[in-house]
Amino acid sequence: MAPTPTRDDKFSFGLWTVGWTANDPFGAATRPVLDTVEAVHRLSDMGAYGITFHDDDVVPFETTQRDAAERTRILDRLRKALQDTGMQVPMVTTNLFSHPMFKEGAFTANDRGVRRYALRKALLQMELGIELGAKTFVMWGGREGSEVDVAKDVHGALSRYKEAVDLLTTHIVEQGWDIRIAIEPKPNEPRGDILLPTVGHAIAFTHTLEHPHLVGVNPEVGHEQMSNLNFTQGIAQALSAGKLFHIDLNGQHGPKFDQDLIFGHGDLINAFTTVDLLENGFPGGGPAYDGPRHFDYKPLRTESTEGVWTSAEANMATYLLLKERALAFRADPRVQEALQQAQVTELATPTLAEGETLADLVADRTAFEDFDADASGARHGGQVRLDQLALEHLMGAAS
Ligand code: GCO
Ligand code: MN
Ligand code: MN
Repeated sequence: MAPTPTRDDKFSFGLWTVGWTANDPFGAATRPVLDTVEAVHRLSDMGAYGITFHDDDVVPFETTQRDAAERTRILDRLRKALQDTGMQVPMVTTNLFSHPMFKEGAFTANDRGVRRYALRKALLQMELGIELGAKTFVMWGGREGSEVDVAKDVHGALSRYKEAVDLLTTHIVEQGWDIRIAIEPKPNEPRGDILLPTVGHAIAFTHTLEHPHLVGVNPEVGHEQMSNLNFTQGIAQALSAGKLFHIDLNGQHGPKFDQDLIFGHGDLINAFTTVDLLENGFPGGGPAYDGPRHFDYKPLRTESTEGVWTSAEANMATYLLLKERALAFRADPRVQEALQQAQVTELATPTLAEGETLADLVADRTAFEDFDADASGARHGGQVRLDQLALEHLMGAAS
């Protein structure tokens, strides 16, 4: 039996996840529209602590643009649901991909008018986020890219991306707001190729910005795995660099279309190491993640509304089961011993001793001339035992 989620677990859900009516490029919706207020209440009852949303998930695109009074009325309903349940809004994001006007991009569209509109739309959503207490503003640039290499000036596009992020972060600083931007990488879909396709590309981009400390990443499990990359290693580098501002948990079966499955319903071993890192941190110490455990998944199209709630619960249950097992894994004396054998914790020790210089190293014959390279090469690694212990813990067969 999976443990029951509580608010302390910091589980949050995008309204667009449970609210997806399951229309896809090949077929119509299979589920009715879900009311925002009902979604907030159901998720709250299940033990989630927060919801997140795009502007368009709550207020229709045209209403945001033209009908301020109607927008206020719709948002008041949301505010009341949040008040009634005590649910938080830890993150908000902007829909800069659905409307046809964004077909060629938003912040990096060739059309300058589209770029100016995108900035206004994002700023409006950021202001709402500030009012609701959001600490993270996610930027997923699904339409920022192209299918035709010669139709996009990549230097120009990245310069405009930087211009947009710089304008928003400068505004954050000027207003004294407590919010940071998290860029969500994705290699493709809906565009043939998307700019800032992986965690690594996005982190590198943040260092070109005017306020780099205000910009990090929001890695999504499936998006890294679409590029055949190791998600746990990706978030580990982001964490190590102080850039893991937020996280999108879901499942994916290797490089194919973006599946947005339930967390763990893809590469389960990698989901285990992800939870292990989020809950237990680096084995040798280092930065830790204490942000929301945010699920960005799509309830399968086969499911009715009942299946939507089953799948929401499944995300949290899977996370908590993996957490239980990851804690037991680290507490197992056999694992401690295997970690030692595999010299995992030795990495926390600097290569040179304190005060030692490169010249001292060169003078140290034991480091080179007298070093037994063959014995070192013949040393037993002990990694298989460690991996098997992880697997046995993951399967609940470790005792
Ligand atoms: C995807 C993305 C999106 C974004 C969301 C936030 O599955 O392609 O994850 O769901 O996370 O739109 O802007
Ligand atoms: Mn996705
Ligand atoms: Mn996502």
